[in-house]
Amino acid sequence: MPSHVAIIMDGNGRWAERHGLPRLSGHEKGVESVRTVLEHACRLSIRYVTVYAFSSENWERPEDEVQGLMQLFGEYLRKEKETFLREGIRLRAIGDRSRLPVSVRELLGQIEEETAGGENLDFILAVSYGGRDEIVRAARRLGMAIQAGEVAPDAIRPEEFSRYLDTDGIPDPDLLIRTSGEFRISNFLLWQLAYTEIVVTDVLWPDFSGEEFDRCLCEFSRRERRFGRRSVQESFDDSRIA
Ligand code: IPE
Ligand code: IPE
Ligand code: MG
Repeated sequence: MPSHVAIIMDGNGRWAERHGLPRLSGHEKGVESVRTVLEHACRLSIRYVTVYAFSSENWERPEDEVQGLMQLFGEYLRKEKETFLREGIRLRAIGDRSRLPVSVRELLGQIEEETAGGENLDFILAVSYGGRDEIVRAARRLGMAIQAGEVAPDAIRPEEFSRYLDTDGIPDPDLLIRTSGEFRISNFLLWQLAYTEIVVTDVLWPDFSGEEFDRCLCEFSRRERRFGRRSVQESFDDSRIA
């Protein structure tokens, strides 16, 4: 079982189109899939779930879709707060908050604070998030620490650098699921996905169910993770020869 599952929730627009509905209905239906995934993850004791809800490039979409999505985030957060508290879910947002509407930003901060004691599951919401943007913001903060004489450039290792990322303290994802059949990362967690197993499903995000989640987990369990080393079986055989 993976400890951290990250999800690129894609295909809301196509789902709406197939049902002859406006795009926003696809996003609304997609919110239900988020609920399903969190319920399921709690049951299976998956410790971290990160979802890609809005990318730094999604700001370029038409104004009405962006506005609709921001409103939906607000509604979702207000509605779900009680569930987070009841289920021991700790919310944490990653991304460039400065671009978010003040109401959404405040709500995120407030719920992060209120759910900080949640011990069952860390729910990481990537909004206004881009992997490159995150790395650049981290480099900027690190540069300032160097300028202030707090960090010696020679001492910077990947572990130190990752402390400046939005995901500081969160282990890298074990499994990345992307829905709607697209084989790309779309600027998600560029640093953190270095050795993550990727599962792509054709199911559109609003149709993503507990059963589909199980299928993705099952596929993950069949993977052999090597992290650049040699396979477990092979080193076992070697030791017998020796
Ligand atoms: C994913 O669904 C949700 C967001 C990116 C906000 P899309 O809106 O990208 O749906 P498709 O890919 O057009 O079907
Ligand atoms: C990725 O989906 C972003 C989110 C799911 C929030 P997109 O629909 O924006 O990605 P592309 O454009 O297909 O790469
Ligand atoms: Mg898409």
